[in-house]
Amino acid sequence: MTVSLEQLRRCHFAVDLGAARTRVFVKGAGLVVDQPSVAAVNTRTGGLIAVGEFAEQMTGRTPSYIRVVRPVSGGTVVDIEMAQRMLRQLIGDKTRRALRRNLRLRAAACTPHDADPLATRATIETLVGLGARRVELVDTLIAAAVGCGLPVERPEATMIMVCGAAATQVAVLSLGSIVTAVRLPVGGEAVDHAIVQHLRHEHALVLPSQSVRPLQVALRGNGLTPHGPASAEIHGRDVVTGLPRSVRVNTAAVREAIQTPLTSVLDGIGRVLRDCPPDLVADLADRGIMMVGGSALLPGFDQMLRQATGMPVHIAERPELCAAEGLGAMLEGRIEPLLLNPLAA
Ligand SMILES: Nc1ncnc2c1ncn2[C@@H]1O[C@H](COP(=O)(O)OP(=O)(O)OP(=O)(O)O)[C@@H](O)[C@H]1O
Ligand SMILES: [Mg+2]
Repeated sequence: MTVSLEQLRRCHFAVDLGAARTRVFVKGAGLVVDQPSVAAVNTRTGGLIAVGEFAEQMTGRTPSYIRVVRPVSGGTVVDIEMAQRMLRQLIGDKTRRALRRNLRLRAAACTPHDADPLATRATIETLVGLGARRVELVDTLIAAAVGCGLPVERPEATMIMVCGAAATQVAVLSLGSIVTAVRLPVGGEAVDHAIVQHLRHEHALVLPSQSVRPLQVALRGNGLTPHGPASAEIHGRDVVTGLPRSVRVNTAAVREAIQTPLTSVLDGIGRVLRDCPPDLVADLADRGIMMVGGSALLPGFDQMLRQATGMPVHIAERPELCAAEGLGAMLEGRIEPLLLNPLAA
C-alpha cells in the first residue's frame, strides 16, 4: 500500500484523519490544521454549526437541534460526506483556494497498515471530494516512524508503537518496510472510558468526558507506577441526586481500572516480538521501543512498558504530530531517498 517517495514528493497536501484529531500538512506552509475530528450539525437545516475545537466543546452540552458528530471512528472514515465538510471548514477558504490553483491536485493520507479496502476507499473518496485528482496512501506506522526520525531505511530493526485514540499499532520496521505489526482496538478512548466507568461504579460519580484529562494529570509523574500521590480530588455529578460532588479518589484503584486496556497493549508487543526474526529482536534489545501518538503522553505509560518488557522505551518529541510531520517530510523531500517498497523499486 505504501507508495514510492517519488510519488509522494508530487503531492501538494497530506491529511492524517484520526479518530480524535485531524491534521493537515500543506507543502510549503507546514502543519495548517491540528483540530479535533468533530463537527456540530443543525439537525433542522442540515447546516454545519461548528467544527474542530469549538464543536468538541459542545459535546454533551447541545440543545436538541444540534448534533455533535465524529465522522472518523476507529481509524476509519465512517461518514464520508461529513468528513469532507469538516475538512473543508478546517482547511479554510484561503488555503483551499491556494491548493486548487494546482492543476492536478495530489493528496497523501496515512491509513493503518491493515486497513480493509472499504476503509481505504473511504479515505480516498474523502480527499477526492476536496478536489484531489490523485491520492497516495502511506502506512501510518511508516509515516510516524519518519516523523520521529527513526532510521527506517536502514537494515536494522526499529520498534514503533503508535498510540492513537481508537487504536494502538505496534510494529517492527526494517529497510523501510513493516516486518511484523499488530493493530489493537484499544487506545486513549478505552483508557478514558475505563476511568469514567470506575468513578461511576466505585464513587457513584458521573464524570463529564472532558474531565478525564484532569484526573490523568492528577496521576502525573509516576501516575501509572505505585510511586505517585495516593489520592486525588475529583469533581463530578452524583449519579443519584444529580448534584455536583467531589470525591477523593484512590489513585491505585484508578491504575487498577485502566490495567485492562493497557494489558492488551502489552500482549500486542509480545505478539510482535514473537513473530519477529531473531536477528531483528537482538537489535531491538538496545534500541528499544519508540512511542508516538497522543496516548503516548498518558502519564506513566512509558514506565509501565519499561518495567513489563525490560526494554528501553522512548517517547517521541510532540508524539501526537509524528504521523503528520512524517507525511510532511515525505512531501517536501526532506528525507533521504528510502526504499519504501524494496520489491517494487
Ligand atoms: N497529555 C495527554 N495525556 C494522556 N492522553 C493524552 C494526552 N494528550 C492526548 N492524549 C490522548 O491521545 C489521544 C489522541 O491521540 P492522537 O491525536 O494520536 O489520536 P488520533 O490520531 O486522532 O487517533 P487514531 O490514530 O487512533 O485515529 C486521545 O485519546 C487523548 O485522550
Ligand atoms: Mg493517529
